[in-house]
Amino acid sequence: KLPTYSFKIVVLGESAVGKTSILLRFHKNQFSTQLEPTIGASHVQKSINMTDCHIQLLIWDTAGQEQYHSLAPMYYRGARGALIVYDRTNYKSFERAKDWIKELKSKGSPNVRIVLVGNKIDLETNNVDTSEALTYAKENDMLFFETSAKTGEGIQEAFLALVKLLPKK
Ligand code: GTP
Repeated sequence: KLPTYSFKIVVLGESAVGKTSILLRFHKNQFSTQLEPTIGASHVQKSINMTDCHIQLLIWDTAGQEQYHSLAPMYYRGARGALIVYDRTNYKSFERAKDWIKELKSKGSPNVRIVLVGNKIDLETNNVDTSEALTYAKENDMLFFETSAKTGEGIQEAFLALVKLLPKK
């Protein structure tokens, strides 16, 4: 019988970068253009069968709107892993992602594993250079993925890479 490990994961980033959409794609393989901004936070559970273990993820989807910023610590507290998302068409959201990373490293779980995610790569507009984001991720010991919640590109990969980084013990 394979061992089961449970992990809390948090998804952080500016409003409208696609956090809820990334989760909806990962969890239900769906996409919607009609999503309302998240109020407070919500969560989904997802089981993953690896070759040598079962993984149970409790994934918290936080609200990116600034008025909810003060709630964020409740959701990243105890989280072993985090997806920090920006919208590749919006440079400001990349700067906001860097702020989230700093906050998480100073106030989150010690050794929290972080994956930086540049979302909306299906759109032609590209205001965040891949090389700039990759360099930033490397300097800060994070993995980096570019994704589209719309097409699904990179979504599974980003979550699986995060899961593989989490210490199993
Ligand atoms: P908050 O809940 O306010 O923090 O926003 P959020 O980060 O959860 O964003 P959400 O998932 O609600 O997506 C915002 C908008 O962007 C929606 O209209 C989505 O349909 C759209 N969107 C999300 N991901 C993508 C993507 O990969 N490509 C495109 N083209 N649109 C996307």
